[in-house]
Amino acid sequence: MAFPPSFIDELVARNPIEDVVGQYVNLKRSGGNMFGLCPFHGEKTASFSVAPDKGIYYCFGCHKGGGAINFMMEIEGLSYPDAVRALAKRAGMAVPEDEQYQSRYRAQERLWALMKEAGRFFHQQLYSPVGAECLAYVNKRGLSKSIVTHFGIGFAPNSWNALVDAMRKKGYTDQELKDADLVGEKNGRIYDRFRNRLMFPIIDVRGNVIGFGGRVLDDSTPKYLNTSETMIFNKRKNLFGLNFAKKSKLGYLILVEGNIDVVALHQYGFDCAVASLGTSLTEEHAALLSRYTEKVVLTYDSDEAGQRAAQRAIPMLEKAGIQVKVLQMKDAKDPDEFLKKFGADRFKLLLEDSANRVEYQLNAILKKYNITEDDQRIAFIHEAAELISTLGSAVQREVYGNRVAEAGKITPEAMKLEIGKAYKRRIAREKKRQEKIDLEPVKALQPKSRTIRYDNMKSAMAEEGIIALAMREPALLDSAKGLTDENFSVPLLGRVYGQMLARHHQALEVSLAVLEDLNPEEMSHIAGICQRQQGPVNEEAFRDCVRIVMGAAQKKNVESDDDLLALRNKLKESKGTK
Ligand code: CTP
Ligand code: MN
Repeated sequence: MAFPPSFIDELVARNPIEDVVGQYVNLKRSGGNMFGLCPFHGEKTASFSVAPDKGIYYCFGCHKGGGAINFMMEIEGLSYPDAVRALAKRAGMAVPEDEQYQSRYRAQERLWALMKEAGRFFHQQLYSPVGAECLAYVNKRGLSKSIVTHFGIGFAPNSWNALVDAMRKKGYTDQELKDADLVGEKNGRIYDRFRNRLMFPIIDVRGNVIGFGGRVLDDSTPKYLNTSETMIFNKRKNLFGLNFAKKSKLGYLILVEGNIDVVALHQYGFDCAVASLGTSLTEEHAALLSRYTEKVVLTYDSDEAGQRAAQRAIPMLEKAGIQVKVLQMKDAKDPDEFLKKFGADRFKLLLEDSANRVEYQLNAILKKYNITEDDQRIAFIHEAAELISTLGSAVQREVYGNRVAEAGKITPEAMKLEIGKAYKRRIAREKKRQEKIDLEPVKALQPKSRTIRYDNMKSAMAEEGIIALAMREPALLDSAKGLTDENFSVPLLGRVYGQMLARHHQALEVSLAVLEDLNPEEMSHIAGICQRQQGPVNEEAFRDCVRIVMGAAQKKNVESDDDLLALRNKLKESKGTK
């Protein structure tokens, strides 16, 4: 590892987790833990916990967790060495630099610089003779010269080597061009990946060019070519236009589908428009948006696909604590077309008129039925009642209930009964689901993460117990005589145990924050294990766990669920949320 262990130990000791997290999250003490709103997934009730004594954070909602270094990596999007540097700076410590890491960080900086150069190159091409056709297309689409400059829009020439040659001349290596996903490779030779396309640079909130979206100039396919995942680009975590929209004074963000829509909206004065990068909206997008606004106006294309995407995006945004409105366009398929046809003032009216998401969803339900027919009218009322029954506020339920009653030609009282029934049905369904989970502990106890599986549940639970307890009281490791990492049924837990043991034997700090070579998902998983373990450190439980793991390793047996529950009780799990 790059940094000496003793340095990391001191770094962690001088950066208490509650102080590091406290810079970003408002924490309130509750018993031994502190709670706040999770900065990673956006939420209304605090399920994000910090345990000062364990030096960890863990979100019971989105299951992200780790130590101080991981927190900095997650929240600031830093690499491991940069997170270490940031914490060192915070604590006023000098960093012992290491060649290898130095160059890894430099590699990222080089990619940002390369992408910026590439963007500059594409932009220049638009105004060179080879760009004439593209410039004509830009004009045809009604993009003004100043908006093209503002967004740094450009043209990738119809050539296999125009960009490669230009970037080589600037001193970039073939490897760097490959790392940036600007080139393809065939028979050991690289060639321009973007050819004959209108180029939109994708810029992150810190102002770095991190990727490109390239649109064809005609109707050929694929319509767009986008940068795929690189060291500096992840489309699930970035939004096109957010670098500008985050500075908007309008007080809300407009979420649209297309790059062209974003550019057109900005040109017409709606400088708060953003688009997801050719993917459906992710939870990460929602969390990112919630860092900049509390209100989002969904303005997806008026076709069926667009409307379906809007329905999907609504709960995701609401979960992030965002108020959602939905703007619906008539006589235009998307905002770009609407603006060109009807102008900014008409769009403003649409914005003011945009329905909150409940109205929008009720309308969508209404459209599905022909309510002049009795059976369809009844079906409409049923489905509307289902939706209304999910609303938290009684006032909302009454207002929308009355509206549906009117449309469905029934009395408000009958509608109220219907909503009440729908509510009870839902609660019953949820209860049944919960019961099923309670009856199948082996399934319920499987890790939330997709890549970590428990095959021998009883051993795995005991392994979790060993890690959680020893993390709090490393001296317990002395009583685990004969237990090796190879006895563990879960390789990840074995690896962690091995590291803890090695550190303990070298009299080094044993804590979650100093674990090495774990990816974020693995780190979160371990943090979850540690954070769920509550109550006093129980030596007897620890020895039980050791016995179980060693026994399972010898017999490879799978025990009954009853034993499992007994073990869980002994380990005193906390459910976590307050
Ligand atoms: N997209 C993509 N790959 C495709 C098609 C679309 O990545 N093959 C992404 C692009 O980011 C695009 C967005 O999805 O901006 C919306 O698609 P679309 O509406 O087809 O493109 P627009 O940019 O709106 O272009 P236009 O208005 O010219 O159709
Ligand atoms: Mn479009």
